[in-house]
Amino acid sequence: MINRGQPETKPASTLKPTVREVMDRIDDGLSRGRVPAEIFGNPDIYQAELRRIFGRAWVFMAHESEIEANGDYVVRKIGEDSFVVTRDEHGQIHVLFDACRHRGVQICRSDSGNSSHFRCPYHGWTYSSDGSLVGAPLWKNALGGMTKENNGLAKQPRWSPSTA
Ligand code: FES
Repeated sequence: MINRGQPETKPASTLKPTVREVMDRIDDGLSRGRVPAEIFGNPDIYQAELRRIFGRAWVFMAHESEIEANGDYVVRKIGEDSFVVTRDEHGQIHVLFDACRHRGVQICRSDSGNSSHFRCPYHGWTYSSDGSLVGAPLWKNALGGMTKENNGLAKQPRWSPSTA
């Protein structure tokens, strides 16, 4: 599970009017045992969910049993962000943003698998399963001053192992 911040505590009165109106209709519908179908397609509700739920609260990512062997990984989305949950060659679990540090391209092309490395399909930057940048084509010539140490996949800083 990861937590991307504290739960939003703003009162409901700060919601955009369209969201507030839909929430009122939901309340009304629930009292009659119904939920308005518009909540599934309303872009304002979607944006509110991204901010208030997926951007702030603990969200289940993966179970340890899904990445039992070293090198196992699964790709998951939280809101619109993609993450890779990996078990590195030493058995440590990492939650990495699935975005190349070069130009942000998604590096994982399958939902799950086993690999010691991830190679970006765009320009070939290669990362180990712990997110460290291993290398890139023409690294010394094309990217002379850059260090590999500061260009690994971004790690999700707040996560908690889930074994239950
Ligand atoms: S975008 Fe990944 S190597 Fe360029």
